[in-house]
Amino acid sequence: MAPAGTGLAAVLPVLRCPVCTGAPPAGQGGAPHADGALHEDGGALRCAAGHGFDIGRGGYVNLRTGRARRVTGDTAAMVAARQSFLGAGHYRPLTTRLAELAAASPPGARSAPNPAWDAGPGTTCHPASPAGSGPVVLEIGAGTGHHLAGVLAALPTGAVGVAVDVSKYALRRAARAHPKIGAVAFDAAGPWPVADASVGVLLDVFAPRNPAEMRRVLRPDGLLIVVTPEPGHLAELRGPLGLVGMQPDKGDRLDERTADRFAPAGLERFDIPLVLSPDEAVDLALMGPTGHHRTAEDLRHRAETAWPRRQAAVTVRLVVRCYRPRG
Ligand SMILES: C[S@@+](CC[C@H](N)C(=O)[O-])C[C@H]1O[C@@H](n2cnc3c(N)ncnc32)[C@H](O)[C@@H]1O
Ligand SMILES: [Zn+2]
Repeated sequence: MAPAGTGLAAVLPVLRCPVCTGAPPAGQGGAPHADGALHEDGGALRCAAGHGFDIGRGGYVNLRTGRARRVTGDTAAMVAARQSFLGAGHYRPLTTRLAELAAASPPGARSAPNPAWDAGPGTTCHPASPAGSGPVVLEIGAGTGHHLAGVLAALPTGAVGVAVDVSKYALRRAARAHPKIGAVAFDAAGPWPVADASVGVLLDVFAPRNPAEMRRVLRPDGLLIVVTPEPGHLAELRGPLGLVGMQPDKGDRLDERTADRFAPAGLERFDIPLVLSPDEAVDLALMGPTGHHRTAEDLRHRAETAWPRRQAAVTVRLVVRCYRPRG
């Protein structure tokens, strides 16, 4: 078994050897091995063909092959800011709603509408049907595992979570976020070392998307939940802190990119009004795309100039879209 506390043992049945199931790395051509199932072997995960993947001291396993493109994800400072900001509970309404949507109920049943949400022209997202006793929840670009841990806490015992990221700083935190989380490094853009139709709930919260792999790993009765920013998200920080990136993903564009593989199953929008100290505003800016471009010191200087001795009113503006796999 995998080392106690890492959660990797719980998610092993879902994971696959990236060499056996993906494109073989240079010099290792030949027929891919049958199914690429992995077992724990002295601090590593290994497949029947002998490919090994170390479980690091941080408690996560690296399932990237030598051929993988070099993408490193969020930095240590960004991840620390995310941990601190989410840990203070500012995004609790979002975590709570994700947990409600993922919670057990028959397929097609309607979740109780959340009065804080504007269901807009769409329908309320339907909750997933975690078949059997052990639904698998996979979060792609899971960061610190904060939302995934909240979702697992609301599901029946036996539910397990796979936290995927490319940032080692995020993965170390995710591995400790919940005892049933297995933290795994791979690039969302490439082939996923995950078994076909093995995931009951797939979460994508402000993270990269790969519709083909999302469809392949999701069970036919599974639920995909995608959270993206809406126009006006953090608008109050944009000028004063010089926020970059965070282009709102036009809803129709998102639906277009998933249309042939997923059917829209609900849309919910809501705002979270926050009153933040300058330090909290800095964390919020730092944990997003701006963290790749500005230092904490630069942001702190801007925040102290913008809000000397007072707090900043900030609006988080989100949309949650649910999708069901097409047949
Ligand atoms: C904006 S953060 C969201 C984190 C988490 N979903 C949350 O809401 O707290 C995006 C995350 O995606 C990760 N990421 C970026 N590119 C990635 C990729 N190609 N594959 C997997 N993860 C990636 C980053 O390291 C980061 O942790
Ligand atoms: Zn293998």
